[in-house]
Amino acid sequence: MDPRSEVLLRQAELFQGRLLLAGLPADDLLGQLPAASGWSWHAGELQTLERRFNGRCSFGVAPPPGEFDAAVLFLPKSRELTDYLLQALATRLAGRPLYLVGEKRAGIERAAKQLARLGRSRKLDSARHCQLWQVEIEQTPAAPQLDALAHHFTLELEDGPLQVISLPGVFSHGRLDVGSALLLEYLDNLPGGRVLDFGCGAGILGATLKRRYPQSELVLLDVDAFAVESSRRTLAANGLEAEVIAGDGIDAAPRQLTAIVSNPPFHQGVHTSYQASETLIERASEHLVSGGELRLVANAFLRYPPLIEQHLGACQTIIERNGFRIYRAVRA
Ligand SMILES: C[S@@+](CC[C@H](N)C(=O)[O-])C[C@H]1O[C@@H](n2cnc3c(N)ncnc32)[C@H](O)[C@@H]1O
Repeated sequence: MDPRSEVLLRQAELFQGRLLLAGLPADDLLGQLPAASGWSWHAGELQTLERRFNGRCSFGVAPPPGEFDAAVLFLPKSRELTDYLLQALATRLAGRPLYLVGEKRAGIERAAKQLARLGRSRKLDSARHCQLWQVEIEQTPAAPQLDALAHHFTLELEDGPLQVISLPGVFSHGRLDVGSALLLEYLDNLPGGRVLDFGCGAGILGATLKRRYPQSELVLLDVDAFAVESSRRTLAANGLEAEVIAGDGIDAAPRQLTAIVSNPPFHQGVHTSYQASETLIERASEHLVSGGELRLVANAFLRYPPLIEQHLGACQTIIERNGFRIYRAVRA
């Protein structure tokens, strides 16, 4: 059981009604709270929850429709996303309680100040390195507009300006990541056909690839609903068409790809994790056609080349700059 769920269950009597668990972990909490339902924006956690609690969890960037007696927000990593989620939940809870639970190292004390903007807040519990806070929603705020919260910016790229729409919580929100910037300079000579941008974030790489290779079919994939929505908006803002998939890891990607391009993930929520990147490298060959290419940017200290050589073939370093490397490997 996730420690945040354990903290909630210490006061289980508060959570017996129609409760919405927003950003819930993929554990047994729904099993312990039979009247509760979940809202997730993480495709992998949703999949795990759906397997056990079919039909009780929704996915997306907005709370599911329906009436709730209360809601709990599991603190996400981003401060801007926390603001959006708290407001989105509060608009549905006039006269009812909204709870916030999170780990101390994830910044629950700071987030409690964000909660306090919605009404009189109080700390209910502190245990398992987590805190549980509550606020009664007296005055419902106006529904937050994702559009207004999005960062709109323009990247001046080699093949012209690219409009980017980045939603709260999306990787490198509102700016271009250094690793991605390097990869954007080295997108030449990719095999055309069906090309995947793995872990697409706001869709910068995928949109650039579609523009550079208009005959290719682009697929953008991310585990996070806010990233998927950002990518759709970025593509639309530039008049580009591509398939955008919400899915967890390379297993969710189509096969018969001619190229996989990625600035692969190194986080799972608030924690550092290379699992999705390692699995990408281990299974890329199952998704690539013969002659298909994997092109990655990564921190130079990450020991990806031996893994690439073990699972795909000879790994070439195209460039190393500012602590980042671009790797290239072709499936035999
Ligand atoms: C380093 S960011 C790169 C984002 C974007 N491509 C860019 O260059 O700005 C990695 C992305 O991978 C996504 N991600 C994390 N875990 C994933 C998983 N298991 N499956 C698919 N995408 C994942 C994250 O949500 C994030 O958007």
